[in-house]
Amino acid sequence: MTRHKVLMTRPYHPEARKLLENHYEVDVWEEHLGPTKGELIQRIGDAHALFTEGVDTIDEEVYDAAPNLEVIGNRAVGTDNLDFLGATKRGILLTNTPGILQNACADMTFALILGIARRVSFGDREIRAGKWRYFDQTPYLGTNVFGKTLGIVGLGGIGTQVARRASGFDMRVIYQSRTRKPELEKELGVEWASDLRTVLHESDFVSLHMPLTPDTEGMIGRSELNQMKPEAFLINTTRGKTVDPTALYDCLVAGEIAGAALDVTDPEPISVDDPLLTLPNVIITPHVASSSKETFRAMAEMAVKNIVAALNGLPMPSCLNPEAIKNR
Ligand code: GLV
Repeated sequence: MTRHKVLMTRPYHPEARKLLENHYEVDVWEEHLGPTKGELIQRIGDAHALFTEGVDTIDEEVYDAAPNLEVIGNRAVGTDNLDFLGATKRGILLTNTPGILQNACADMTFALILGIARRVSFGDREIRAGKWRYFDQTPYLGTNVFGKTLGIVGLGGIGTQVARRASGFDMRVIYQSRTRKPELEKELGVEWASDLRTVLHESDFVSLHMPLTPDTEGMIGRSELNQMKPEAFLINTTRGKTVDPTALYDCLVAGEIAGAALDVTDPEPISVDDPLLTLPNVIITPHVASSSKETFRAMAEMAVKNIVAALNGLPMPSCLNPEAIKNR
């Protein structure tokens, strides 16, 4: 029997690669800059499985180039890079890696909250630029985090872990989510807000945790930013496209909000000439909220488990379109 073939779009998962090589013929794209869609189409050939990163665009053109494709192991919780309808009608199973990264993402969210409120990156940038010449705290005065109101948009796995951490900072937490979570309200003391406006209006920190979907794309634009308090901060660790970057820049420059800490931008990578990078009250990190060493490795392992299970006809740890099976 011929061995199944798996294509990995990055070289930096050696343990996952080894696990896959135990069972399959593995082809690895050897550059850290993954393949363009055109390069992927050229390369995918007769692969039965594709191990992807959450930024690889996988659409119908890719599916059409891969007649043997049975499963995609997307090493991400986000799935906005995958075409669901096209996969399902071709019987291709889509999988992701939930339930692993929520603590790492929540840690990073708090790193950003603390970093922007207490001006950590700003102070570091000033020192490296040779601007700290004598004791004077006044250029570096920050804002308290403890005791403030945190607004969480999207109380899923990550938002919930952010809420848990907030209780250690004696914060009031209000949230907006697709579905109300009475159990979590009881357990964590978080408050439901019936509309986004209330969250924006009452929070000192607004932290975005909803997935990117057609409904959430551009969700935070000029009018939403204008509903925030001038002393409030925006934190984005979900997807860059949920926020209008021009509106954000304009509101920051006009002092309509106090600052922004963004792990995700639109586009990614953000251009070094982007006006947001000229602002002292902005922190930008390179889409790394989930990327502790431990979590990075565990996500890759789960992507492998999804692939192995799918190719063996077994239940997958996280399948997004199980209905695809009937189209095989
Ligand atoms: C990271 O952005 C993920 O979706 O896992």
